[in-house]
Amino acid sequence: MTDGRRVLVLGGTNFDIIVRAEDFPREHEKVRGDACEARPGGSAANTALGLARQGCQVRLVSAVGDDALGRLCLDDLRDGGVDTALVRVDTSLRTSMAIVISSGTGKRMMTFAGADRDQAFRAVTEPDVAAVDHVHVVGEPTSELGRVVALARRAGRTVSVEWNGRDMSRLAEGPGLNLMNADEAGRLPGALPDDAAGTARRYAKRLSGEVILTQGAEGALWASPSGAVVREPTTAVEPVDRTGGGDAFNAGVVAGWLSGEPPSACMRRGLDAALHVITKIGAHP
Ligand SMILES: Nc1ncnc2c1ncn2[C@@H]1O[C@H](COP(=O)(O)OP(=O)(O)OP(=O)(O)O)[C@@H](O)[C@H]1O
Ligand SMILES: [Mg+2]
Repeated sequence: MTDGRRVLVLGGTNFDIIVRAEDFPREHEKVRGDACEARPGGSAANTALGLARQGCQVRLVSAVGDDALGRLCLDDLRDGGVDTALVRVDTSLRTSMAIVISSGTGKRMMTFAGADRDQAFRAVTEPDVAAVDHVHVVGEPTSELGRVVALARRAGRTVSVEWNGRDMSRLAEGPGLNLMNADEAGRLPGALPDDAAGTARRYAKRLSGEVILTQGAEGALWASPSGAVVREPTTAVEPVDRTGGGDAFNAGVVAGWLSGEPPSACMRRGLDAALHVITKIGAHP
């Protein structure tokens, strides 16, 4: 599994407070949670840790505040084998945070955007990109993120993009992977009603890249620009806490693809990694 492909991951790092509870409090109401976990998180940090666990050499480009939570995030990344040289320590803004109310099947999240990651993206140089095999991006399609993706494409590096409910077409054109869940795909411009596979196929052709959709308990599907669609089932479970499930899936898929594995094996890696994460509260990828 360890073939050591070098990956640059760009996106957010934050500190998560996760409470497992079946109900959401209304005004003046107090709801008792079943379990609680406070831990470093954020999509890019989770994916970076997942990729390191899958045997890749990972360098993260992100930002934390110059505070105790930021130091916890950095320690956690380093303990997990992620290179944090390009994680900016922002001296004027706090570490970003997320409060998650996780009911197993559902997940409600409130976020606070702190430390400025666009400044970290701005600091990425051509040699930083040339030093890796692949670039993975998560987050809003800002011009700073777009600049790094353009550097990667120009240098002939492959790119994977987590769409996260946004239309990332502008960054996504070209060889590489596009990852999203089936609900998000259904809301994309030009999506085909009730036809996730058709929508994925349409986008794969349009982008000349692979489109991979997660479908919760049903598993995942992979559409290629050729029009081919491959489906991979999973073991349906009752999730304990879905935080980071999509990130773990992405890490497995990207690591498999970088090792030259076929779509079904890549999805298998991703689905297994997700199962590991969603069956525990606050589990790491
Ligand atoms: N009930 C379930 N049983 C088995 N696997 C599941 C279940 N629900 C979700 N998963 C797996 O968790 C991963 C991510 O789930 P999902 O399709 O819900 O994406 P998502 O909602 O975008 O997740 P995230 O919010 O973490 O990005 C996928 O690999 C999916 O197969
Ligand atoms: Mg997702």
